[in-house]
Amino acid sequence: MEIRKAVIPAAGWGTRFLPATKAIPKEMLPLLDKPLIQYIVEEAISSGIEQIIIVISSAKSAIQDHFDRSVDLEQTLEQKGEERLLEEVRRIAGLDKICYVRQKEQLGLGDAILTAREIVGDEPFAVLLPDDIFDADVPVIKQMIEVHRRYGGSVIALWRVAEEGTRRYGIVKPKKIEDKVYQILDVVEKPGPQNAPSDLAILGRYILAPEIFQALRVTPPSKGGEIQLTDGLALLLKQQAVHGYEFEGTYYDAGKPLSLLKASVALAVKHPEMGADFKEYLKRLIANL
Ligand code: UTP
Repeated sequence: MEIRKAVIPAAGWGTRFLPATKAIPKEMLPLLDKPLIQYIVEEAISSGIEQIIIVISSAKSAIQDHFDRSVDLEQTLEQKGEERLLEEVRRIAGLDKICYVRQKEQLGLGDAILTAREIVGDEPFAVLLPDDIFDADVPVIKQMIEVHRRYGGSVIALWRVAEEGTRRYGIVKPKKIEDKVYQILDVVEKPGPQNAPSDLAILGRYILAPEIFQALRVTPPSKGGEIQLTDGLALLLKQQAVHGYEFEGTYYDAGKPLSLLKASVALAVKHPEMGADFKEYLKRLIANL
């Protein structure tokens, strides 16, 4: 079955970015010249997704405003002759494949995905987390849709981590099937180096079979009271195949201040307009350290 719908959970508190996220959604923080969520929406659209469901909370109306029209702003830009900006502002508002659902209480990523179940219905769907940004020739979720075409079921994005990563990510127990594709035998949330079943971590791109909703409904909350997607996946893979895929591309963590800064620097040096200037600046900065 084709993957037509994507869920973008964006209702979390963003506590790791406080105080920046007190009044601004984490997903609206900029990576160079665009908010994080715009990268994610563009990845979904360029992968052929037809409907995007963004899970928000009452504090996240800036996300809706970003993808809405702003007639006053358009008029001002027109009067000022800012053609390029006007075109960009209209292009973003023209991304009309987006709808929104509210997560009423922040009960975790698994609960956020459950919030979208009515709109998703009984079909496999994509999930993209705005904390994880990829630089890839073929969008990562599109690569995963390809894997789903071959194997069906669910597909999760995998990335090799060093020891430290086993404390920060969900880690899989894999059985290799072909180059870069694994059957997932188990998943463990942040096991640490002693208990990690491999060095393959789960990142924020998923193709999920609709049976995940039933699994999440019966997933008990974790210690912090949240429904974890990893725990739901652990239940799902007991019933049906879940595959892991080591994608082609580079991953940037945008979920905390230092890593977002690193991502900004890495992308800035490659940027067609800012790159040359920024590299000169970096060289001077490093020379003076
Ligand atoms: P995170 O745990 O990384 O996001 O959840 P967070 O809770 O916003 O951030 P911190 O940990 O407090 O700094 C991963 C994704 O799941 C969404 C978040 O918005 C983020 O995109 N999420 C998380 C929800 O939509 N609802 C929740 O209840 C929790």
